Amino acid sequence: MRPFQSLIVMFLLTTLFLIFLTTLHLEKTHSHRLEQKDLRKPRIIQAAEKHTFNATISPLTKQVSFLSPKPDVVGVSVSSGLTQAIPQNKAYWNRLLYSALGQLDKKELEHHRLWSHCREVNQELLKTNIHDFTSYPSMIQDFLMAMNCKSPPLLVNQPYKCVRSEGGGQTFLLFAIKSRPGNFEQRQAVRETWGREEVFQSGLRVRTLFLLGSPSSDDPDLGALLSFESKTFKDILQWDFNESLLNLTLKMDAFLHWTLKNCPHVSFVFSGDDDVFVNTPALLSYLQSLEPSKAAQLYVGQVISTAGPLRDPKSKYYIPLSFYDGPYPPYIGGGGFVISASLMQQLYSISRVIPFFPIDDVYIAICLKGLGISPESHSGFQTFDISEQDRQNLCVHKGLILIHRRSPRELKKLWRGIHSPLLTC
Ligand SMILES: *[C@@H]1O[C@H](CO)[C@@H](O)[C@H](O)[C@H]1NC(C)=O
Ligand SMILES: *[C@@H]1O[C@H](CO)[C@@H](O)[C@H](O)[C@H]1NC(C)=O
Repeated sequence: MRPFQSLIVMFLLTTLFLIFLTTLHLEKTHSHRLEQKDLRKPRIIQAAEKHTFNATISPLTKQVSFLSPKPDVVGVSVSSGLTQAIPQNKAYWNRLLYSALGQLDKKELEHHRLWSHCREVNQELLKTNIHDFTSYPSMIQDFLMAMNCKSPPLLVNQPYKCVRSEGGGQTFLLFAIKSRPGNFEQRQAVRETWGREEVFQSGLRVRTLFLLGSPSSDDPDLGALLSFESKTFKDILQWDFNESLLNLTLKMDAFLHWTLKNCPHVSFVFSGDDDVFVNTPALLSYLQSLEPSKAAQLYVGQVISTAGPLRDPKSKYYIPLSFYDGPYPPYIGGGGFVISASLMQQLYSISRVIPFFPIDDVYIAICLKGLGISPESHSGFQTFDISEQDRQNLCVHKGLILIHRRSPRELKKLWRGIHSPLLTC
């Protein structure tokens, strides 16, 4: 063979060898994927079955430390108040709760799954665990299939929100406002009124964030508008999960996680809707007037003290009996409440233990109950609106802290009104 020919032969051989190597690699990644698919098997549900009726919960406080990455690394204690408030019975969520508490006792609580592998793909298991699963409204079925999904990816972030700035120290109050991607007008009205970021009397700094999920694929594409809005106002947080009523618990949980990471030094957090009116100066004076011990454990708003699940399938907040059986602990209407930021870490940690509940206000109350904290009622919070004849009365508004629900126009009118120097009450 001439040198030229042998060169060609060598080249061909090398190419063949390389192709062979690539195929090997592809095969490997493929089988790796298959393995990951198998991991999707819903282990927690099988565990729930196993522990269903033999999980004995001692009324003592339970202690455990997690080894998951920050900021979960904190011991969780579950107060006996929780097991006193929520009966142990056959309903699915009740079983999940007691199974999780049992696992916590034995320190074998499982780490939550990756976002990409959390959806329940095996509906058969849900059908086995819940005899009438197929008769559930599709929203609740969706909730159940995604209820192990935690820590959604962030699409729009504001990592510098709470960084110290000139002319004011730490954030005293952080407004975390639940909004929907399309609610541009509501957000703008809030920015121009009670949610305006400023430093109030005696240097109290207020900051504002709007919490958004993703619009569904059937909705118009709002991406460009949202990106403009977020660049202009720097107050949008958006996560990659479907925006829906029954995903508000997920939203709250994602926000808790975000705050622990990005705003660890705030004093109070307000959680509420984008259609409420808040009298920010009144809220600040109230928060400032608190005794330190109370300020450290605050969960305040309008308390709904004797409530239970609504059993009418047509209701927005319908909860089937086979899903949850028992009363709700006293909770605060999600229209707006304030909690001490010092509770956020514990709240987040306990939310790794207590299974998600479809109604976010109830879920927060359940978690706080687990921390031994009960809601505090304040008559300044009117989440069910005020009497008809007072709705135009500025003096009544000036004396309140929160009123649900007001249109963007009404917000502007009220805000201007209560700040008018001509107002004499
Ligand atoms: C979000 O909801 C839409 C229907 O509106 C559905 O097609 C899509 O699969 C959902 N996305 C996820 C991640 O569940
Ligand atoms: C919540 O969001 C997740 C992720 O997008 C989705 O799979 C699930 O269906 C949503 N749940 C509800 C009740 O819409």
